[in-house]
Amino acid sequence: MTDNIFVAENIDAGYGDATIVQGVSIRIAEGEIIGIIGPNGSGKSTLIKSFLGFARLFKGRVFFHGKDISGIAPNRAVDLGIGYVPQIDNVFPNLTIAENLDMGAYHRKGGASIKAGIAEIYEMFPELEARKSSPAGNLSGGERQMVAIARAMMAQPKLLFLDEPLASLSPKPASVILSKMKAIKENGIAIAIVEQNVKRVLSVSNRGYVLVNGTCVMEGDADSLFAEDFSEQRFLGLEGKGINSN
Ligand SMILES: Nc1ncnc2c1ncn2[C@@H]1O[C@H](COP(=O)(O)OP(=O)(O)O)[C@@H](O)[C@H]1O
Ligand SMILES: [Mg+2]
Repeated sequence: MTDNIFVAENIDAGYGDATIVQGVSIRIAEGEIIGIIGPNGSGKSTLIKSFLGFARLFKGRVFFHGKDISGIAPNRAVDLGIGYVPQIDNVFPNLTIAENLDMGAYHRKGGASIKAGIAEIYEMFPELEARKSSPAGNLSGGERQMVAIARAMMAQPKLLFLDEPLASLSPKPASVILSKMKAIKENGIAIAIVEQNVKRVLSVSNRGYVLVNGTCVMEGDADSLFAEDFSEQRFLGLEGKGINSN
């Protein structure tokens, strides 16, 4: 347990007085990638939003580095070292790539530190340096996703939550994004990826959790989940609800 950077126990979460997620527990070890998979509407986004103050946490406890952070405010989570890349509206389209990265560095003190941070980011994302003066709105879907991830990295997180980073990307840009995930992990940063692209996300994950109708129906290491047939009856028509097992 001491190796876990993040633990969420028995989470009930939702919006207003509507409970969407019920009794879900997850853990993330230091430097590990986990996948949170499941069909559209199964509560994946709600679950991670409830960790970060974007959805209501009705029940359960959330720990980061062993410290109880249940009910934390979003900006406080960033300060503690938890990054979050939402599924939509995750870049400023009218700002250039460089300006988007600057926006991710607001907590850093001093221009030198920000400059060093940007240099590190461009090392990891050379594609972005090549186009640093382009408005983010002019970029392809894959490049835009890269900007969103790079911006979150500017805050020097120890843990990164990504909400459907592969959504609407074709196979080539999707595999570029997945290779960036591996590079980030190699830098010692833990990552939780919410995805419907089951096989793709499991290919870079250590472990995974399967959410259906707001509850966790299965968890395990990536290899054993990879071997599962997610169209089976016991997944309650997961495939019919739009899960993509390719
Ligand atoms: N802001 C919101 N207010 C109320 N209900 C919401 C909100 N966002 C999502 N929901 C509902 O929560 C359920 C789960 O949504 P979500 O967590 O986005 O699922 P997933 O990310 O797995 O697709 C859906 O029924 C959705 O309609
Ligand atoms: Mg979602």
